[in-house]
Amino acid sequence: MGTDIIILGIESSCDDTSAAVLRNGVLLSNVTASQDVHKAYGGVVPELASRAHQQNIVPVVDQALKRAGVTKEDLSAIAVTLGPGLMGSLLVGVSFAKGLAISLGIPLIEANHLQGHILALFLREKDSTETPPPLPYLCLLVSGGNSQIVKVNAYNDMEVLGQTIDDAAGEAIDKCSKVMGLGYPGGPIIDKLARQGNPDAFRFSKPHIPGLDYSFSGLKTSFLYFLRDRLKEDPQFIEHHKADLAASLERTIVDILMKKLTMAVKQTGIKHVAVAGGVSANTGLRNAFHEKAEKSGWHIYIPKFSYTTDNAAMIAITGYYKFMDHDFCPIDKPAYSRVTI
Ligand code: KG4
Repeated sequence: MGTDIIILGIESSCDDTSAAVLRNGVLLSNVTASQDVHKAYGGVVPELASRAHQQNIVPVVDQALKRAGVTKEDLSAIAVTLGPGLMGSLLVGVSFAKGLAISLGIPLIEANHLQGHILALFLREKDSTETPPPLPYLCLLVSGGNSQIVKVNAYNDMEVLGQTIDDAAGEAIDKCSKVMGLGYPGGPIIDKLARQGNPDAFRFSKPHIPGLDYSFSGLKTSFLYFLRDRLKEDPQFIEHHKADLAASLERTIVDILMKKLTMAVKQTGIKHVAVAGGVSANTGLRNAFHEKAEKSGWHIYIPKFSYTTDNAAMIAITGYYKFMDHDFCPIDKPAYSRVTI
């Protein structure tokens, strides 16, 4: 393989075990094993997640290497998510990555899961033609655990301009969907239902907090009380209004997200705007971005569908940039459950 730089990325921060291989910044493989075991509980059960990672990690890494057509001896370095995430889940990926790096005598690279989501936009496939955003750009990072507006100055220099003071957008969607008796995770189900509903059918409370911060706990409570009252009048209310409820909920969340993002664009004068994280798969949010591009002249950057939720490709690209900078991780650095960007 000569002087090729080949990075193995490993991600196990929540309920997806994923491994990816990059050669010279180009993605060769990205393999993810999701965990259906949590569906029955309506949320991720940490202990079950750790056990499933334990079962998945070896076959997932093996598949990623095979699909990339490389052997472990070809690897230049291993990048792994050190945090934030569930500690028991992180430890599986981190311990595996450390063991493999030591046995191969190659460097370990630390990846921050949140930075990974943001850097997913820099992933290139063999024939990809998309251009990444120019620096600096703004990124709306919206996932099950985070809702932040981030100013990206460089791959390793990111500034949080605003963030949620309570629940994340994805968490709010998941909780509201649970109240409606829908499955887990709620995001994709709400998205699908919303396409058939009227987004103006119902109104839910929107937060009034200063600056660029978000809040979603009020919306969740207002949704819960609204349903409780309507169900008293009509026990079939949810069943009769499923699509309208989903569309109105999605509209409210997208409005909340876009309002602060628009403020951030005005404040910074930066019109290159990206979106990242699991909720960036949402159709309503994607449509709102396209509308901003048309009406307000934003240059928008939306990751490919497969790189919106947790994946190791984004960890591998983070690793690639750090490798180029010789930014390696001490082998004794522990995993961390909480951290900002
Ligand atoms: O980034 P991610 O996979 O995991 C975290 O690191 O949190 O995000 C998961 C979140 C979940 O809350 C899920 O419901 C939401 O992303 N999500 C969506 C959609 N697909 C996933 N939310 C709205 N619309 C979607 N299509």
